[in-house]
Amino acid sequence: MITNSGVIERYGHLLDLPDYTEPITLNEGATPLIPVHRLSEELGGGFQLFVKFEGLNPTGSFKDRGMTAAISEAYGRDAKAVICASTGNTAASAAAYASRAGLRSIVLIPEGKVAAGKLAGAVAYGAQVVQIQGSFDDALSLVVDISSKHPIALVNSLNPYRLEGQKTSAFEICDTLGRSPDILCLPVGNAGNITAYWMGFRQYNEIQSSGLPQILGVQAEGAAPLVLGHPVDHPETVATAIRIGRPARGEQALQAAEESGGQIIALSDNDILSMQRRLAQEGIWVEPASAAGLAGLASEIESGGLDPMGKQIVAVCTGHGLKDPDIITSRMESPTIISSDINALESLIFS
Ligand code: F0G
Repeated sequence: MITNSGVIERYGHLLDLPDYTEPITLNEGATPLIPVHRLSEELGGGFQLFVKFEGLNPTGSFKDRGMTAAISEAYGRDAKAVICASTGNTAASAAAYASRAGLRSIVLIPEGKVAAGKLAGAVAYGAQVVQIQGSFDDALSLVVDISSKHPIALVNSLNPYRLEGQKTSAFEICDTLGRSPDILCLPVGNAGNITAYWMGFRQYNEIQSSGLPQILGVQAEGAAPLVLGHPVDHPETVATAIRIGRPARGEQALQAAEESGGQIIALSDNDILSMQRRLAQEGIWVEPASAAGLAGLASEIESGGLDPMGKQIVAVCTGHGLKDPDIITSRMESPTIISSDINALESLIFS
C-alpha cells in the first residue's frame, strides 16, 4: 500500500497544530544524514561529522517541512490565498504546497537577487511572483502589513506552524543518531530555522532525554545583524538565501544560541564558497548559504574556538546546489571543445 509519509504523518502527534488542520504533503522530510569522513579528517579528525542534506526535500530546501504545516493549517481553515516574502526558497515551497492544496499563492522577492532555480520553481509551481524594489526585509514588512488587512494567510516563519513543521528535522536527527548530536551548525537568515531546531531538540529532550546540542549559527559577513548587534540596512552576500538585515526571529535565535552554550558567528563570502567547493568534492552539492554552517564550524575548529574531539557533529545543509547554478557557471572556465573524433579525445585525455 502506498501511503503519505510526510512530516505531519510521522511526527504530527508532537506538533502543535490545530485540530482543523488538513494535511497537504509532498512526502517531505526523511532526508539523509550523510557521513563526511574526508572533510572531518581534513579538519583534524577525531570526531564524527554528518551532513543533514535538506536540499533533498521535494522542492529542494528545508522550507518544505514548515510549509506542509503552514499550508495544511491554512487549507484546513478554508483560506483561499497565501502570501510570503522570500529570498527564493520559501517562495518555491509556498507555491508548490499552495498549488497542491488548490490555493492561490503570491510571493514577493527582492528584485534581481533571487537565484535562478528558485525563481523558476516559484513560476513553475504557479505562484504570482512580484519583484520588490528593495530587500527581503522590505518585502517582509509589506506582506506582514497586507496579511493583517486582508484574508491572506502569511506563510513566512513568523507563522508559528512553519516552526512546528521545521522542528521535525531535529526529531529525525535524534532518531537517526539515537540521541542529540553534541554540536549542530547551520546558516542563519531570517532566523526561523535555528529557532525551530532549538524548539525541536528541547521537546525531544523532555520526552526522550535525548540531550541537547550546542548550536553554532552562521551568518554571512555582509548580512550579519545578529553578530553586529544591530540591523543591517543594505545586506549583501553571494549567499542570497541569507541576504537579510532584520531577522524576524533574531531575538529567539540569539536565545537559542546562548541557551545551548553555542554562538552565532559571521563568515566571509570566500569562506562560504570555498566550503561549497569542498563539500561538492564529497559528492554533496549545496547552494552557497547552505555551506555557511559548515564553513563556520571549520573556522571555529581551525582557530581553536571549538574542540571537536570525540564529538558527534551535524551540519545542516539547507538547500540543493541546483537552486543556484549560476554561482558555478559564472565562475567556471568553459569546458574544452573538441571535434567528435576518437583521436582528439585520446590526445586530450592522455596527453
Ligand atoms: N538556507 C537557505 C538555503 C535558505 O533559503 C534560508 C532562508 C536559510 C538558510 C536561513 O533560514 O531564514 O530560517 O534563518 N531562506 C528564506 C527564504 C529567507 O525566503 O527562502 P532562516
